Amino acid sequence: MSLRLAVTGLTGQVVSALIERAAKDIEITALGRPQLDLGLRNAVLAGLRHARCDAIVNAAAYTAVDRAESEADLAMRVNGEGAGHVAEAAAELNVPLLHLSTDYVFDGMLPRPYREDDPTGPTCAYGRSKLAGEHNIAATHPNHVILRTAWVYSPFGANFVKTMLRLGETRAEVSVVADQLGNPTSAIDIADAIFVMARRLVEDPSPSLRGVFHVTGQGDASWADVAEATFAAAEKFGRKPVRVQRISTADYPTAARRPANSRLDNEKLAIRYGLRLPPWRQSLESCVARVLMDKTGSRAV
Ligand SMILES: NC(=O)c1ccc[n+]([C@@H]2O[C@H](COP(=O)([O-])OP(=O)(O)OC[C@H]3O[C@@H](n4cnc5c(N)ncnc54)[C@H](OP(=O)(O)O)[C@@H]3O)[C@@H](O)[C@H]2O)c1
Repeated sequence: MSLRLAVTGLTGQVVSALIERAAKDIEITALGRPQLDLGLRNAVLAGLRHARCDAIVNAAAYTAVDRAESEADLAMRVNGEGAGHVAEAAAELNVPLLHLSTDYVFDGMLPRPYREDDPTGPTCAYGRSKLAGEHNIAATHPNHVILRTAWVYSPFGANFVKTMLRLGETRAEVSVVADQLGNPTSAIDIADAIFVMARRLVEDPSPSLRGVFHVTGQGDASWADVAEATFAAAEKFGRKPVRVQRISTADYPTAARRPANSRLDNEKLAIRYGLRLPPWRQSLESCVARVLMDKTGSRAV
């Protein structure tokens, strides 16, 4: 059965992955700025109304975590109110909405991976704006899935892995925070999960497929672990070794306070959708290979 998805955003990591990974029987209509600005209700409603679709994916967001501390109103307008506008459009069109949210809705104080029903408590403006988006969606359109994901990397756009590869071109050592734990997640794996979930939502009205789901790569890591895995993968392409100096959050002050533990438990996804994302190290290797092959045209040595 063919599937038509209207997706917000044109250039983001998840949007790009959705466009690239869509099989022949999946039609993606991507809508983004300047025509569709999430902060403008009329633009969102008009844009989505005209996209003939079976489901909507809200993959656009204000994602500048540190800048959000000084642009909290803008972040709230885009991530909080904007998500509500998208939900309004989905309700009007009577189609399921799949919305991307974040591990940063949690305060990071639990000593175990967070489950979907654990209490939220964001520690930064970005997290508060994303949580407001979740609430607005839940209040507007019951036919939704909120996919909380985390630490997203891909060959597209800007992300931590690509930053490490860039720094590794000129440095023999980088300092990376080692006391924040999370689940690195490939945007490509998220896109593949979204296709499976969207199909099920279109075909199956059961409430157990709706609500909040944690959707992250398998396995935990610190940022320093991700950096080390990135440099190890890059060495296979002839890159010089780069040493990772493991530092603490206190040594690397940022405008936004990030949770120390934002690992997400994915069991609900596995039980209700039969889905598990691949282990993060496996997807990270593919990502590094692709970025370096795109750059140099070379093969792994
Ligand atoms: N990146 C992560 O590590 C991470 C972690 C957890 C959750 N998430 C969530 O996952 C989703 C996808 O993230 P991503 O990494 O793919 O994001 P991304 O690469 O930063 O891309 C964000 C996209 O949103 C668009 N956008 C920003 N403001 C907009 C506005 N006002 N109106 C319309 N479009 C707007 C951007 O378009 P322009 O080109 O116009 O700027 C871009 O296409 C987001 O909901 C994010 O909150 C991401």
